[in-house]
Amino acid sequence: MEEKVIKAALLGLGTVGTGVYKVLKKQEEEMTAKIGCKVKIAKILVRNLEKAAAKVEDASILTNCWEDIITDPSIEIVIELIGGINPAKRYILEALKAGKHVVSANKDLIAADGKELLDAAGASHVDFLFEAAVAGGIPIIRPLKQCLAGNHLTEVMGIVNGTTNFILTKMSQEGMEFADALALATELGYAEADPTADIDGLDAGRKVAILASVAFNSRVVFDDVYIEGITKISAKDIRYAKEMGCAIKLLGVARNTEDGVEAYVCPMLIPSSHPLAAVNDSYNAVFVHGDAVEDAMFFGRGAGELPTASAVVGDVFDIVRNIQADCCGRIGCTCYKELPVKRMEDTYNRYFLRLHVEDRCGVLAEMTEVFAKYRVSVAQIIQRDKVDDGCAEVVVITAKVREGDFKTAIEELSNRASVKKISRTIRVYGK
Ligand code: HSE
Repeated sequence: MEEKVIKAALLGLGTVGTGVYKVLKKQEEEMTAKIGCKVKIAKILVRNLEKAAAKVEDASILTNCWEDIITDPSIEIVIELIGGINPAKRYILEALKAGKHVVSANKDLIAADGKELLDAAGASHVDFLFEAAVAGGIPIIRPLKQCLAGNHLTEVMGIVNGTTNFILTKMSQEGMEFADALALATELGYAEADPTADIDGLDAGRKVAILASVAFNSRVVFDDVYIEGITKISAKDIRYAKEMGCAIKLLGVARNTEDGVEAYVCPMLIPSSHPLAAVNDSYNAVFVHGDAVEDAMFFGRGAGELPTASAVVGDVFDIVRNIQADCCGRIGCTCYKELPVKRMEDTYNRYFLRLHVEDRCGVLAEMTEVFAKYRVSVAQIIQRDKVDDGCAEVVVITAKVREGDFKTAIEELSNRASVKKISRTIRVYGK
């Protein structure tokens, strides 16, 4: 009996596209037994035909013309791996409108225009799946939409950028400064030639927008997410954090609170006892809290050729199963609420504060007087005598305080003659 074949087209043959091609090849033999038919990559859209020819067995499937794919009715699935907003958005919308299912790893696009894409998929009763857009190989979109659907989820947070986790790990374990750790990450291929999206937190911000939307059933877009990167973190901050029982990680946090959604990315101290503190190197991990499941943690490779391809191929296989069971479009957009997104000033956190003050009697009293005025309570304090400018260095961890109040307190402190320098403020994750 002839084996059934479903045809797909790949858009892009970069790192992830090549990985998808390889994973599908590796799965070829057991594919029919596993999902009931074969998936054949019938066309691949590339910019440079010559360069791409070296990566595939049959160069005749390569094209640099989108029309070859969109006008081919035998292609049922389009796998978009070119990234960026345009022309990816146009290709995806045209494919969905033409009744083709789409798999995408494009977090930039989904974090900005996810609603439009999902609405287009819904209108055509086709699947639009994007497991690879958040945390690469780690299954998290499907668990949130399906396995954990019986929960009211109140928090989804974690380490969703491998480049910055690698950098912070080197700073913590080897005492490196940020610039040296970044140079090492670039040399080893963990950071791109232009690392801005990673080190400034933008990549993580896009993932937080997608995670929050899926977890809380309410659309959160990239522009709603407050973002700070890791470029100002120093080895000294990390040493003090360790002394105070914490690690420093770039965390993406989304909370579903009674007065709205909190969504932010920033470097944070996290207690060394928290499982995320032990997630090192380029690994990612996502922590979820729900009213029924309580805590669940997902850990693994957040990027890379084969880990990301693993998520993409999982989506393709799901679509193939749906096509055969005639149940496509079963799980589309899950945002049925319109929750407000809170301003960062209205969130409550603890803070790590490092400052240089005059080394004389009464200075700490002055500090705590300002703190008291703005309801900032000190939870931990360290003082080091005389740093290089002749001041004392004071490091404080506060109790929970409204961000707006903490900022006003810092502003007032920085205007006091006894305070010579506010070196750093970093949020602290936890109760
Ligand atoms: N550059 C990202 C990271 C991977 O370092 O995790 C792609 O999102």
